[in-house]
Amino acid sequence: MKKHILVIPGDGIGQEVTQWGKAALAQIAKNFGHEFTFDEALMGHAAIEVTGNPLPDETLEKARKSDAILFGAIGHAMYDNDPSLKVRPEQGLLKIRKELGLYANLRPILLFDELLEASSIKAHILQGTDILFFRELTGDVYFGEKNRSEDRNTASDLMIYHKYEVERIAHKAYQAAQQRSKRLCSVDKANVLESSRLWRETVQEIAKQYPDVETEHMFIDNAAMQLIKNPKKFDVVLTANLFGDILTDEASQIAGSMGMLASASVGDGVGFYEPIHGSAHDIAGKNLANPLASILSAALMLEISFGLPEEAKTLVNAVDKALKDGYRTGDIADNNTDAAKVLGTQEMGEKVLSLIK
Ligand code: IPM
Ligand code: MN
Repeated sequence: MKKHILVIPGDGIGQEVTQWGKAALAQIAKNFGHEFTFDEALMGHAAIEVTGNPLPDETLEKARKSDAILFGAIGHAMYDNDPSLKVRPEQGLLKIRKELGLYANLRPILLFDELLEASSIKAHILQGTDILFFRELTGDVYFGEKNRSEDRNTASDLMIYHKYEVERIAHKAYQAAQQRSKRLCSVDKANVLESSRLWRETVQEIAKQYPDVETEHMFIDNAAMQLIKNPKKFDVVLTANLFGDILTDEASQIAGSMGMLASASVGDGVGFYEPIHGSAHDIAGKNLANPLASILSAALMLEISFGLPEEAKTLVNAVDKALKDGYRTGDIADNNTDAAKVLGTQEMGEKVLSLIK
């Protein structure tokens, strides 16, 4: 199979981790006789520094021409501490999601048994958890109109959904639920928000087309609590952009670390694959970041964009084997970890690569 992959490392640890997602793809191509070609492009703070634009036209053009995109992370502390800056790295990510029609963000909570002790939640509560989040990605308060009064003392962000936006992601989530345990939980705040009432009404309508799937509706506050109390209760979770952003960071603690979670953004065309973690500038360039989420993002690319489940499984197995052999990056090490097996980004990347069989 011939595929052209665009790599966008982005900012901070994105640079270090994406290198390993890419290397894993190249190794898979070699082992399975595929031809993967790679190109690179700028986005975020890295792009602002060079072009003044967080999403240069050239990046968008390369993205449209590729068969899939592997992305790292975005953001820089300098912007977080200065909200007045108008040009911001995150704008690049939001714009590319919108431009490429990436309306469905799939975030699987993939739990490796070896990491049960790395979580702050008790192992017996976690064991057996398998959740697939469908986070809507191109609507909501993220893209609604923003306003700031002239005296700068009042600000607003419009939380807005159109019915078709809810319908299209609901279909994707229901179709996934049919392939899994046929349970779907839709999360909203319909007791307070009009946009959530539209969300719930629409999901109720779509649900009728999937009578084999059991639907539950839950308020976001309750869902945030249930997720920690009894994560096994969830299978497919369907939710809006902001709620999904928050809930999946919370859910990452089930998998032991943000450094373990991969995501796939899909929709109208090319797929976009990225770890859910941020740019973590505090550890950038120190060989401390966990490259596994990028490698697992590459696995999602193989499965979803290229339809290569065996190759995807091979990557996941390599990660699993590294963990079973006791290797950890700092974020997933615990009291039982052999200090000699706590690896840096580079060493963990090499370890997983050597285990791709
Ligand atoms: C994510 C990130 C982004 C988001 C930021 C960087 C804009 O947190 O992908 O979850 O909020 O969507
Ligand atoms: Mn987030």
